[in-house]
Order: sequence, then C-alpha cells, then structure tokens
Amino acid sequence: MTDNRKEIGSYEFMEFFMSRAAHVVSMDTNGKINVMALLWKTIGELWMLPVITIAVSPSRYTFKLLTEGVQEFTINIPSSKIADTINITGSLSGRDIDKFKETGLETIEGKRTKVPTLKDCILTYECKIVHSCKSGSMASHHLFFGQILTAYASNEIIK
Ligand SMILES: Cc1cc2nc3c(=O)[nH]c(=O)nc-3n(C[C@H](O)[C@H](O)[C@H](O)COP(=O)(O)O)c2cc1C
Repeated sequence: MTDNRKEIGSYEFMEFFMSRAAHVVSMDTNGKINVMALLWKTIGELWMLPVITIAVSPSRYTFKLLTEGVQEFTINIPSSKIADTINITGSLSGRDIDKFKETGLETIEGKRTKVPTLKDCILTYECKIVHSCKSGSMASHHLFFGQILTAYASNEIIK
C-alpha cells in the first residue's frame, strides 16, 4: 500500500473511471513530465490485453510526449481534494509552463512505469503504449492504446 491506495484489478471500480475527467501524465526522453486534463478515454479488452485508449489532439504538448517520449502514460482520476486542478491542466500547456508547479500536484513513483502517478486520486492506472493511430473522421485526435500494467484505487472508494 502506498499513499492511502491499494492495487486492484484493471476493471474494478469502473463506474469511477467512466465520464470523469482524468489527468494524463506523460514524459519526454530526458525525464521531464507533463500533466493534461483528458475526458475522452475508454477501458476494456483488446488483443487479449486490458487496455485504456485515450484520444489526444496533435496540438497538445502531451501528443508530442506520447509520440516522441517515453512510450508510457498514467491515467489518474482526481479525488475531490484536487478536482479543481483539471481547470489548469486542461487550459494551459506544458510547452509554456510547469503545470506541477502551477497546480501543486504531487507525484508518486510508478511501480511498473517510468512515468509517475499522481497523489490524491481515487483511481490510477500505469499504462504502456502498445499501439496508436489516427481516430479517423470523428475528430483530429489520435488514439493511444495503453496496456494497463497495474491499477490502484484509493481507500476512499474501496471502503
Ligand atoms: C475537462 C477537460 C477535458 C479535456 N479532454 C481532452 C481530451 O480528451 N483530449 C484532448 O486532446 N484534450 C482534452 N482537453 C484539452 C487539453 O487538456 C488542453 O488543451 C491542455 O491545455 C493541453 O495541455 P498540454 O499542451 O500540456 O498537453 C480537455 C480539457 C478539459 C478542461
């Protein structure tokens, strides 16, 4: 157990995953990290793997890190304590500022990923990118398919 959370199966507590904005954390090859608000995401099984798929516009700095940086990301569903930070991570770019300094968001080292996870989240997933593609005619976003390497739920929702 770390920071008031426990490892869970990939598909537990999915009701807290659906329809909630997440923070996606990504990293460049020098270890610089960024955090971005993300709503377009799915979870399920693909290619016999537990997978989270995220839709990221090529205009985002996060897109650059996902395509040119470490081939991993973490998905973090904020608790009410840090819910406000979504407004900042979803409106400012890591190209221009350090959003960790701006928000005060704190990280916890990944157990199976180089990319860290975030403190004060109800659900967290460490993912390795196994595939990416354009999303087609629906939007200009690209889809990144992340194999879930491990997942955590906070004691707040496990109870
Ligand atoms: C609630 C919310 C949800 C968002 N969801 C997405 C999303 O699913 N995909 C995306 O590409 N951008 C999404 N955005 C926009 C990015 O978070 C925003 O453009 C951000 O500033 C990009 O940061 P970056 O340049 O540091 O990557 C969302 C913004 C908000 C406020």
